[in-house]
Amino acid sequence: MQDPLVYLNGEMTPLSEAKIPVLDRGFIFGDGVYEVVPMYARKLFRARQHMARLFRSLAAIGIPNPHSEEEWMTLIGKVAQAHPSDDQLIYLQVTRGVAKRGHAFPQEVKPTVFIMTNPITPPSAQARENGVACVSMEDKRWLRCDIKSTSLLGNVLAAQHAAENSATETIQFRDGFLSEASASNVWIVKDGKLMAPPKDNLILEGIRYGLIEELCAASGITFEARRIPRKEVFAADEVLLSSASKEVLPVVTIDGKTIGSGKPGPVFRKLYAAYQAAKAA
Ligand SMILES: Cc1ncc(COP(=O)(O)O)c(C=O)c1O
Repeated sequence: MQDPLVYLNGEMTPLSEAKIPVLDRGFIFGDGVYEVVPMYARKLFRARQHMARLFRSLAAIGIPNPHSEEEWMTLIGKVAQAHPSDDQLIYLQVTRGVAKRGHAFPQEVKPTVFIMTNPITPPSAQARENGVACVSMEDKRWLRCDIKSTSLLGNVLAAQHAAENSATETIQFRDGFLSEASASNVWIVKDGKLMAPPKDNLILEGIRYGLIEELCAASGITFEARRIPRKEVFAADEVLLSSASKEVLPVVTIDGKTIGSGKPGPVFRKLYAAYQAAKAA
């Protein structure tokens, strides 16, 4: 779709005509938060969890939530309905608003609200069947990675590192321990057990994090959240990525080193099948 309708501050407008003032604090400071919500067969997937995370992000940086959950659902519904695809990835962003430049919060500022959507493209069958290559780097981001902030410079640099190395993702380590990738959570499997770093300030709690915990419980996969040293990642039987757009994706090399058998493993296959079943439910 060339010029889809988007929502900006109360108006539905073609994307090409959606404009914000240059003093918007999202533009000046990256002072905002966002969400990315998948929709399958015109039904939002895990909408309640995405809304809860949006509300947590807003509260964490002191932006008053401009809408009730019901209002958010109506706005998202309007943008989605205006788009022809049945499967979409809806992006929404709230910034602190427009004010004279100054770092501290301005008085009486109205948040800027923007919602757009795109067709969702799941990972290719080839990526799923052969697995993907990743690279690694030190996590240089701030210490509130749990906030889904639009200040994404650290993530941008990590993603660029992957792009420059023809890799799908950059897996980051902080002080020798696994954190997450530039735009996905990272999981390892050893002896049939799935492990991921704990949900703390050093990672974004992906909506798939909670979902995968549920899928593990339902399919008899043992899960443990704990700090994971770098060497355990490279010695894992399987490494997986998860995100709204990647779903669950197997990693077969990191920095050119083979992970496990070099092929997607049984825990990936089980989780992938359970994920597809959850989408279709
Ligand atoms: C830094 C980061 N971690 C994890 C995730 C996974 O989150 P979700 O499962 O909600 O897509 C994302 C999603 O884009 C992300 O940007």
